[in-house]
Amino acid sequence: MADQPSLFDEPASGSSPSDDISSDVKQEVLELHAQLNQANYQYYVLDDPQLPDAEYDRLFHRLKGLETEFPEVLTSDSPTQRVGATALSHFEQVTHEVPMLSLDNAFNEQDMLDFNRRIVDRLKQSEIVEYACEPKLDGIAVSLLYENGRLIRAATRGDGSVGENITQNIRTIPSIPLKLLSSDVPPILEVRGEVYMPTTGFEAFNKKALANNEKPFVNPRNAAAGSLRQLDSKITAARPLEFCCYSLGRVEGATLPNRHSEILKQFSIWGFKINPEMQVVNGIEGCMDYYHQLAEKRGSLAYEIDGIVFKVDDIAIQQALGFTGRAPRWAIAHKFPAQEQITLLKDVEFQVGRTGAITPVARLEPVFVGGVTVSNATLHNMDEIARLDVRVGDTVVIRRAGDVIPQIVNVVTSKRPDHAKQIQFPQSCPVCDSHIERVEGEAVARCTGGLVCAAQRKEAIKHFASRKAMDIDGLGDKIVEQLVDEGLIESFLDLYSLKLADVANLERMAEKSAQNLLDSINVSKQTTLAKFLYALGIREVGVATAQNLVNHFLDLKVLVKADFDALIEVDDVGPIVAQHILNFFSEPHNQKIIDGLLNIGISWPKIEKVAADELPLNGRTFVVTGTLASMGRDEAKQYLQSLGAKVAGSVSAKTNGVVAGEKAGSKLTKAQDLGIDVMDEAAFLALLNGHGIQHA
Ligand code: IVH
Repeated sequence: MADQPSLFDEPASGSSPSDDISSDVKQEVLELHAQLNQANYQYYVLDDPQLPDAEYDRLFHRLKGLETEFPEVLTSDSPTQRVGATALSHFEQVTHEVPMLSLDNAFNEQDMLDFNRRIVDRLKQSEIVEYACEPKLDGIAVSLLYENGRLIRAATRGDGSVGENITQNIRTIPSIPLKLLSSDVPPILEVRGEVYMPTTGFEAFNKKALANNEKPFVNPRNAAAGSLRQLDSKITAARPLEFCCYSLGRVEGATLPNRHSEILKQFSIWGFKINPEMQVVNGIEGCMDYYHQLAEKRGSLAYEIDGIVFKVDDIAIQQALGFTGRAPRWAIAHKFPAQEQITLLKDVEFQVGRTGAITPVARLEPVFVGGVTVSNATLHNMDEIARLDVRVGDTVVIRRAGDVIPQIVNVVTSKRPDHAKQIQFPQSCPVCDSHIERVEGEAVARCTGGLVCAAQRKEAIKHFASRKAMDIDGLGDKIVEQLVDEGLIESFLDLYSLKLADVANLERMAEKSAQNLLDSINVSKQTTLAKFLYALGIREVGVATAQNLVNHFLDLKVLVKADFDALIEVDDVGPIVAQHILNFFSEPHNQKIIDGLLNIGISWPKIEKVAADELPLNGRTFVVTGTLASMGRDEAKQYLQSLGAKVAGSVSAKTNGVVAGEKAGSKLTKAQDLGIDVMDEAAFLALLNGHGIQHA
């Protein structure tokens, strides 16, 4: 049945190992297959790892060992055989037995009402139609063909009738079963779904590509497509791809349930990932509610979606409705507003950050993208400008995904006007005219002016005063800028000698608010060592690293004298961060400021040493999910680790607690099902507070 010869062609006896070796070996091999397949399913499909990694590795190596010693037991559905040994020269064509159709689109509520009306009219029934609702994954449609439970062919959609055989590449995706998880399976089963790259994998992939001077992918859909188009499956295997199934292609020799939602549940039992957001709702109103709920949740999903797919749930009704030329009448894709738009690049300005990093910022003709008006986008650095070959006056493609800063992903070169201007990186700092330095191997260029540079001084003071640092109420960005521009302060130390008259003379500042500000500055003298350390603005020392430094050294005097070896002992501190810390404390100017701050009375409670196994959350495992308003998930994770907890990526019976922010999804539901303690953000902050961590 396979359309092209497989490297994994079976021995003549089919999938069971041949008879001339001991039945004990055969039995063990089959048990290892079952154990590893089950572990894979729990890890990649259910997102609920049960087998420790070390045990998985042990079983895997045992199986590999047996397969080397007894090559007769090696079968193509072995968990060791996911990556093909040799690259293909081209992809063979595959004719779809049942065409892979597309979906009609709805762009607004009226389109949805029309869709429902067409169905009700055709059915000539008054009963409310039940719809299965699923996120529309932004990836690549594939068809997977199983014969007697074994994956024998995978193909792209192509033009709907003829696609390409990508079996070698599909086999490398761990959430796709090579063998269905039951012996009671149809002789022929074709499952369809989407291969996609989850957002974190996509971002990590692009970060690495940029660091290696390689071309990043424009969006996760292109990343999935590009990864499946590889002739060498080793390359595909290294890409973080997942698969989620959403429909039946065909079945022979068995009867499946008579509802779409139930068919998907059967697929899940056979080892496929189905979307946990899938729901069956009543009528068009149910569809609208679902659409709005998912639109709200979109930013917190682990993958990109570009709309919602609604399908009539009852298969008999689907059959009665049938198809138009290219799409089923019983389904529709309600698209979200586009996340990409084109607009004009009007100018590029260079901003100087707290650490001197110079960032080109694109000024754009305002454009509505993904629900907001965007007029600025980051261009990251000069390499990015060169890579895009973007010029002022160009028409550019802007992308805004989730809460990420808008990016320029492409230039529409066909629209480039004659007057388009090359972007010149400044020769010297645009703020203080100091020399610009670019460290070998680093993409970022930096102003070398340090505190001579008014931009860096302003940013350093804003950071010092910010909520998670010294928390100086009333000292907003505008006031800091005026104080520096008027020459009233040079560093954050000078804040503590400001006079009432100086402050009261600032624009839009009355005497009362000037006094309030001076009071807040005074109150900030009582702080914690972690906040103080963070406030100093040492490169790469965020709130959680500051907390880890405090847990480790307990005392500022000890920390400032720590050498490189002592610093890299600290959780979360690697050689680069350690070097930044050493550089900071060895700089005489910084030493003077720290002494000055201590002399004007900045102080914090003394910290007692706690042994690692006495840390309050030692031995406990937490999961952080959803969006927290006051911190990122990484920060929450580092806080938990600083209290001795382990932080896992998925909820299982071994999880002791879950921190659930806004829009938490399946992990929260699972925790609730398992009866695991769930903390909302307020409870989490209270927990931190109870252990001396005041994350304002
Ligand atoms: S059902 C005959 N369900 O959207 C219906 N498609 O625009 C077949 N897609 O080619 C498709 N998520 O690649 C269906 N939950 C979902 C989907 C989905 C993404 C893609 C699929 C299809 C395209 C149609």
